[in-house]
Amino acid sequence: MSGFRAALARATARSRAELQAAGRRRGQPSDLGRRLSHSGAAPARPSFGIAFDIDGVILRGRSPIGGSPQAIRRLYSEDGTLKIPFLFLTNGGGVPEHKRALELSELLGVNISPAQVVHGHSPYRELVNRFENDLIIAVGKGEPATVMIDYGFRKVLSIDEYSSYFKDIDPLAPFKKWIVQQADNKNMKSEKVHPSYDVFEERVKGVFVLSDPVDWGRDLQVLCDILSTGGLPGSGRGDQPPLYFASDDLEYQAAFPSERLGMGAFRIALESIFNQVNDHQLKYISYGKPNPFVFKNAANILEKLAICMHPSSLPTKKVEGHQFSTIYMIGDNPKVDINGALKAGPPWSPVLTRTGVFRGKDNDPQYPADLVVDTVEDAINCILEKECIQ
Ligand code: G3P
Ligand code: MG
Repeated sequence: MSGFRAALARATARSRAELQAAGRRRGQPSDLGRRLSHSGAAPARPSFGIAFDIDGVILRGRSPIGGSPQAIRRLYSEDGTLKIPFLFLTNGGGVPEHKRALELSELLGVNISPAQVVHGHSPYRELVNRFENDLIIAVGKGEPATVMIDYGFRKVLSIDEYSSYFKDIDPLAPFKKWIVQQADNKNMKSEKVHPSYDVFEERVKGVFVLSDPVDWGRDLQVLCDILSTGGLPGSGRGDQPPLYFASDDLEYQAAFPSERLGMGAFRIALESIFNQVNDHQLKYISYGKPNPFVFKNAANILEKLAICMHPSSLPTKKVEGHQFSTIYMIGDNPKVDINGALKAGPPWSPVLTRTGVFRGKDNDPQYPADLVVDTVEDAINCILEKECIQ
């Protein structure tokens, strides 16, 4: 135990030095130095916020990792109120944010609000007006159509439902004995008989990939059909409808010991097949980290959260127009989480854990974080010590 404490003390001292060095690199030595030596009480409105990646930092599959429940609980007061503004900034998704908030609350033992959950597909909300009365297809694991309907889209079909209306669209379907029966199987069967929309006449006007596709083979086929024909499988060639991906992660950390192929891998597969069977290139837009706009949006949410927590007090420091002097991005994927925070620039400060995609001994050479720690719990210990929070 004492050996562990000593190791943690050494890690903390090293981390402090790394954070100081990072501050100097960013030209804020006095600010960081002052905060590191400060020993007073916590400010009324915290001058910092935290964004947590989920897969590979907080969870692996559905299991908490790296002391995440203890780490997150330190951000709440004894009475359960939020002490430090934080949110989850994940490229994952497939369920509505309020449902994910509930699931995380149960797994971590704290009260997380839907506003604190930002999925890769959360920005799709902004596209509702553009597709208001159009038939759109939602792709991915979980409940992609429910998410889109929740956002306000009106004519949404999941790719499962859509494909089910087209006889023989997937020639391999009869061989797929592994297909898991959905809980709402009965409803789906009756919908198959009475499609909600005239899918044989009405063209698909947009395709939204929300989460990792489940049946890659079928989805590659059906998406190639939709995208090559102007939104009507089985008809002639037509203009490609807009295609959106919630993220572009090539790999991510799930429950299996080594990384799993993510949405970016699916995008590569779709793009290369589409480009082979068409005489023009696939067009698409990807959201999610490392897109700087995702970090800007997260910073706005954190600021609103801080104002809600302390409506009458002003921020302790305002640095170059930011409400926060630092927003820590705690992630496991250098290419995605650390790269994104570096691209976003101040007040973002990336922190890399070794519980997911990254397992290196030192820092990532291509996308170096301000701090590298073993777990999210170590990250929170270092951050709270640096920010003088008990
Ligand atoms: O499918 C989830 C994955 O792409 C990444 O999730 O939480 O590591 O951003 P996260
Ligand atoms: Mg991750």
